[in-house]
This record gives sequence, C-alpha cells and structure tokens, in this order.
Amino acid sequence: ACLGGALLALPGCSGAQSALEVTGREAADIYFLFIVATALSVVVTLLVLILLVIVLWGPQRWRARLGSDRVVIGGGIVLPVVLLSLLLGYGLFVLDAGASRVARAEDGVITIVGKRWWWEVAYTTADGDRVVSANELRLPVGRPVALRLESDNVIHSFWAPQLAGKLDMIPGRTNTLVVEATEPGVSRGQCAEYCGGAHALMSFFIIAMPPGEYDAWLRKEAAPARAPEAAIAQRGHDLFLENGCGACHTVRGTRAGGTIGPDLTHVGSRRSLAAATLPNDAEAFARWIKDNQHIKPENLMPAYENLEPDELAAIAAYLEGLD
Ligand code: CUA
Repeated sequence: ACLGGALLALPGCSGAQSALEVTGREAADIYFLFIVATALSVVVTLLVLILLVIVLWGPQRWRARLGSDRVVIGGGIVLPVVLLSLLLGYGLFVLDAGASRVARAEDGVITIVGKRWWWEVAYTTADGDRVVSANELRLPVGRPVALRLESDNVIHSFWAPQLAGKLDMIPGRTNTLVVEATEPGVSRGQCAEYCGGAHALMSFFIIAMPPGEYDAWLRKEAAPARAPEAAIAQRGHDLFLENGCGACHTVRGTRAGGTIGPDLTHVGSRRSLAAATLPNDAEAFARWIKDNQHIKPENLMPAYENLEPDELAAIAAYLEGLD
C-alpha cells in the first residue's frame, strides 16, 4: 500500500512545471542538491531500518553490542550532526552560487512586475527602447539574464521551477534573480506567494529561444501594432477605442495608452490569455471581455456585459490579429 501510494505521486515529477525536468542553470544546481539530499536520506533511512530489525529480531550478541554507549553516541549524535552539517553547508553553497548571484554588467535585464493577478514583463532592446509585454517570459538560450522582480501592490513570488528557484516580489524593493536557460523550449511558472483570491490563476509561460530567434522576436515585439486589415478587425479596433479600453491598455501605434492592464500591442502572438488561464483564441477573448469577473474574480478589469455578441466577436478579431 505504501509503495502504491508513493507511485501515485510520481506523475507529479514530470510536466511543464516540474523542478525535476530542468532547463535552466540555476534549476540544475537545485535539482542536484535535491538528488544528493534524497540519496543521503535513503541511505540513512535504510541504515536505521536495518538496525531496527536487528534490535527487534537479531541474535542476542548483536543486540547487546548495539546497546553500547559508543554506538548510541556515535550513531545517534555524532553521525547526524556531521551529515546534516555537510548537507547544510552544501545547501548554503548552492544558495549563494545561484539565487543570490549578483548581476554582471554584461547580463541582459528583464523587469517583471507582479500585478493582481498577472505579470508585466519589460524588455530593453539593443537601442535602449523599453518593450512591455505580459504573462510570458522570453529568454535567449545560453545568455544569463538578470530578472528584476518588483511589485506595485502586494507580495507575489516568482517561481519558474524548470528555470530557477523562487524569489519574492516585494512592493518598494527590487529583488534580482539571474537565470540562464540551457535549452530551447516552453515551460510554465506560477506565483508562489498567496496574493489574493485569484492567486492560483497567476501563472505564466517561459519560452527559451535560440539567441538569433530571440533577437528577431524582440525586434518584432518593439514594432508598433499592425493596422487591422479585415473589416471585422477594423470594426473591433473602433469598438475597442469607443468603449474606453485604451484607458487601461496600451496598443502602441494607436491612441490607446493606458498602463493599468496588460500592454496589448502584440497580444495575439502570446501563448495564453489572462496569465495562462485561457487559451489565446478569438472565443477566449470574447469570453474574457464579457465574463472576466467569473473567470478571475475581483481582477481589476470590469466585465463588459453590455456588448452584443457581434461586437465582442469584432473586438476579439481585432485583438487576435495583433500578432
Ligand atoms: Cu501573485 Cu500569488
């Protein structure tokens, strides 16, 4: 039964948000620490079980020897102190080498701000322009990047298990986490500090790309939004502005310049909507605009229940086209 219970937990060991499938340098150090600690624990547990069996059912002279002062003091005090001290030292070494590595001048810089309940992600281009996106973190493989973690409301915690350890985002201060993706691919991260009702719906994707692809993506991301072509998207653009969406959202290249909600300039190219809560398609856009207070209760966006289905479809077509 115990073995069966343990096996049931194994499915949790894989997937896009597993600390046991690492794709980042810092996460690899933490993974190795986990393996060392687990292996040591298994050895100690087996040793204790063997001794227990001997004490309960072993030959009399073995039992007598196990009861001596030397064995009790050596095995009960000295051995645990030595093993745990070694493990503590190694853990502190990994902590010092990874989570608290000071950013160097040549590292890239990406600023991530915890919002209720989503992530603002700001990149800096080679020309020094600030490019704001949301809810996904793109990284160039093999280049260290300093993540500047901030919050303008409550405490959140940035946790990307496959990439690195977790670090809190605290209002009024900047915590820096230096990360380096070691292979291209997509993984998932999650807010790891309870921050209100929709804390569990505050997730994001990490997309690690070959450096050349990353640079091309950032150039595209820095460009203003594409003008709508289809008639339905043009109508959506007009409705977007008429309904005041631009008071909270920015779409660069239009007069929408709000900063309360996510920048939507290239929202159609993102992997998800609403911080990895919904897929990124026209139907999800329409659902979110009309029903977001049910999908993510108490988020800062009002629900636009007044919009007709054809108006929602037009706005959705416009946003979906912002790739
Ligand atoms: Cu943000 Cu929990």
